[in-house]
Amino acid sequence: MRLLPTDLIDITEATQPQFGHYQCNSAMKLVKRSDLNLNVKNPRQIAEKLVLAIEENLQLKTPLFSKIEIAGPGFINFTLDTNYLSSVINEQLHDSRLGVTLPNKHLKVVIDYSSVNIAKEMHVGHLRTTIIGDCLARVFRFLGHNVLGLNHLGDWGTQFGMLIAYIKTIQPEITENAPVKATSTELVQWYKASKQRFDNDAEFKTQAQQEVVALQSGNPVSLRIWKEICDISRQAYEEIYKLLDIKIVERGESFYNPHLPDVIAELEAKKLITISEGAKCIYLEGFTNREGDELPLIVQKKDGGYNYATTDLAALRHRVQDEKADWIIYVVDAGQTLHFQMVFAAAKKAEFYNPNKVQVDHVPFGLVLGPDGKKFKTRSGDTEKLIDLIQGAIQKAKTLLLERHKENSEEMDMDEAATILGINAIKYADLSCHRLGDYVFSYDKMLKFEGNTAAFLLYAYVRIQSIQRKVNSDIPQLIASGAKIVLEQPEEIALGLLVCQFSEVLDNTIRELLPSRLTDYLYTLAEKFHLFFHQCRVEGSPQQNSRLLLCKTVSDVMHQGLSLLGLKPLERM
Ligand code: ARG
Repeated sequence: MRLLPTDLIDITEATQPQFGHYQCNSAMKLVKRSDLNLNVKNPRQIAEKLVLAIEENLQLKTPLFSKIEIAGPGFINFTLDTNYLSSVINEQLHDSRLGVTLPNKHLKVVIDYSSVNIAKEMHVGHLRTTIIGDCLARVFRFLGHNVLGLNHLGDWGTQFGMLIAYIKTIQPEITENAPVKATSTELVQWYKASKQRFDNDAEFKTQAQQEVVALQSGNPVSLRIWKEICDISRQAYEEIYKLLDIKIVERGESFYNPHLPDVIAELEAKKLITISEGAKCIYLEGFTNREGDELPLIVQKKDGGYNYATTDLAALRHRVQDEKADWIIYVVDAGQTLHFQMVFAAAKKAEFYNPNKVQVDHVPFGLVLGPDGKKFKTRSGDTEKLIDLIQGAIQKAKTLLLERHKENSEEMDMDEAATILGINAIKYADLSCHRLGDYVFSYDKMLKFEGNTAAFLLYAYVRIQSIQRKVNSDIPQLIASGAKIVLEQPEEIALGLLVCQFSEVLDNTIRELLPSRLTDYLYTLAEKFHLFFHQCRVEGSPQQNSRLLLCKTVSDVMHQGLSLLGLKPLERM
């Protein structure tokens, strides 16, 4: 249930409590729209008309507002009627979807995220795409859309020629039937060693290039080694996905390899290809380099090899034509913004998608920084291994929990609780920072029990559970008996209003593709809950039933909200 219809005029949450609950600034914009023939010069007059229309149309059944006020040049401030709010929250109390209606049209949403690289270590940058992508996927699914989460693995390309050539030199006994012997860590070392050799040894370079050709033409030994390499890497990243509770479909770059010649043929047929220094390029308006020269998108190199961009064009075409996507989302670091702008522009030009029918978005994000404010590195200067980072958070969480529960540590499974808290903390720290900014990775900060942290939210949730245990009232029974929430005290009204805004917040999260909208909301919800809890006695008060039920709606929203962030609740902490 939406609290207000927002399709015609733009009504947003009030920025200050003295402006009521919602505000509308549309009069100032409408007055400038000559095409509307409003024949008024003063936005206040438009505001008056809007208010009149709203009063006529919306106030009919139960009054929605206790006050609608026009302020300044034409701002409209709305204060919701408390009875109306009570009726909405009581409806929500009976609704297993917490007031979130299913859409008229179920969209097919393809989300490209995580997208790790084979034979390279997963690093902290992959953490962001994985966590943000997973959260968006969860919200879209809950809103009733059909989500296909794709792991666009870096599992193809010249680096495999290098690696296969290298493996053949150190394990010459390899055949189609005798597999590669290596751990994922060794693989990463080999990758580095092969790269070095590739750059310094001309003979090796030629070998590597021949290996790429052999692989692409389906040589069985090369293919076998390639598959082995992928399997070894897969074990490493699947361990991380399991720990983080990430479910994603693997569809790496190699999947599109058979489509690449056809993509080039289609681009050629559409006369979009220009040859420049032997390479096949697409020139797109508006893309120039620092010198002001036109910047080409290279889709086939001089030697016939294809690029990252070629695969992305093939992937986009496949997602539109075969997957029938309505919305395609790429959760990839901000460093790749230009790449995606050019790929999208080229795909539009090639009519791989119709922008009026399919929405395509790059969802960029900033860097993870170390405590020194620089790009996150280990002490030795290497990129921190993701698995070590996660294990570190779990260790810290355990120390903290043991400290808090010195006396009663045997009452809970400390390892389980520490794993949940540690992982929640990492995920929440990432999601709660506006994704466009960089953020500083700090165990101490993310594991704090106060402030905008996972622990603070979990604690609010745990507290509600303990109130419910203490009062020991059968809540389903209470609801079935027809007991109602009555919002009276300012703290109850403020909390109730937030509970009713859950659906709106999810819409905003998706519209802006911004998980921090949801974390901000849950943080405010937890804060307002604490305020309510301090001011309004639950146990033994005349309003016990109403307040217990209000707590239940908060707990339900909190539980659902945490799960949409990919966080797990704790019953005690
Ligand atoms: N594997 C790439 C990287 O780690 C990200 C791929 C993103 N997805 C895409 N369709 N290009 O940088």
